[in-house]
Amino acid sequence: MKFLILHGPNLNLLGKREPAIYGSQTLEDIEFLLVQLSSQLGCELSFFQSNNEGSLIDAIQGAAQEYHGILINPAAYTHTSIAIRDALSAVGLPTVEVHLSNIHRRETFRHTSMVAPVAIGQICGFGSDSYMLGLRALFNYVKNL
Ligand code: DQA
Repeated sequence: MKFLILHGPNLNLLGKREPAIYGSQTLEDIEFLLVQLSSQLGCELSFFQSNNEGSLIDAIQGAAQEYHGILINPAAYTHTSIAIRDALSAVGLPTVEVHLSNIHRRETFRHTSMVAPVAIGQICGFGSDSYMLGLRALFNYVKNL
């Protein structure tokens, strides 16, 4: 099984970016933990971060042939991007949405997710554990298809 892990805008700044909200782990730290978990589970991962909506859409479109599912933190595009939602819907791969912070206890503009209706589920508020829980959930979902 192969999964694509997508990180949206500004997540390349993790570790330096608003640590009170997003913690002190870098994106590399999170990816390292995900790789460790993937070898426990027995699946393969590829990672892609972009600050551009179109590049994330291209990656989603390209995933159809190669991957069994997508784990995505769309970052701020969560709240705005009908185009990312449409790409996920068009490709139809099982998708789990994750966020480091609990978007529902933050500003009201973060309470809406364009992506959630096309995802299997959403996990937020647990820092890097959101990614770990998300990968486990995606793996178990795909395994039981
Ligand atoms: C985020 C939450 C979003 O609202 C925000 O725009 C981000 C990060 C999170 O992981 O908590 O960039 O997706």
